[in-house]
Amino acid sequence: MKIVAINGSPRKDGNTAKLLKMATEDHKDTDLVYYDLVDMRIKDCIACMHCKKHNECSIKDDMTQIYRDLNKCDAMLLASPIYMGAETALLKAMVDRMYALLAPAQAPKRYEPRLAPGKKAVAIFTAGNPQANDVLTYMKDRYYMAMALQGISKVQVHIVGGTSPASDIMERAESQKVVTEIKKFIEH
Ligand SMILES: Cc1cc2nc3c(=O)[nH]c(=O)nc-3n(C[C@H](O)[C@H](O)[C@H](O)COP(=O)(O)O)c2cc1C
Repeated sequence: MKIVAINGSPRKDGNTAKLLKMATEDHKDTDLVYYDLVDMRIKDCIACMHCKKHNECSIKDDMTQIYRDLNKCDAMLLASPIYMGAETALLKAMVDRMYALLAPAQAPKRYEPRLAPGKKAVAIFTAGNPQANDVLTYMKDRYYMAMALQGISKVQVHIVGGTSPASDIMERAESQKVVTEIKKFIEH
């Protein structure tokens, strides 16, 4: 099984990274690729539409490697802290670039996925607001929709609230529960 884990937090050892690492460690027979987006050069999508005529993105940067891994993986885990009610710009830029994985389709459909079917996706968000799981429901809607566009129907979205940059997310009881749920989801 190949897993791609993408940390959209600028803090490489922060709450988001800890949760992501816990969720992806100790899987049997697994090829894990882990990215810290803060260390990568991923430009914003420029809407050139090159990808609608050709099966590639016109921008040649570190996203090229991520495209390769997304194509090969069985499960992708996308993680980010919540900043001003949304994912970080680091993760948003990467997810926007997944537009290049959509091929034009016959009407009434606009796009169809280029990714092979059967992949799983998990989005993980950490947030300061203790009520985040109830308040940020639009994040779940957005990521279910974004993954559905990619042809991915096996999707989990988790939001762990009540954290602060100074706190350790693994001290929160729900963190362990979320990690267990993700591990089970990936393996079955
Ligand atoms: C710039 C900034 C904006 C934030 N905005 C929010 C927010 O809108 N809602 C929220 O619940 N938490 C917010 N937080 C708190 C973080 O989401 C939370 O502490 C998160 O766990 C930090 O993750 P990290 O340790 O991976 O950096 C914000 C934190 C920062 C630094």
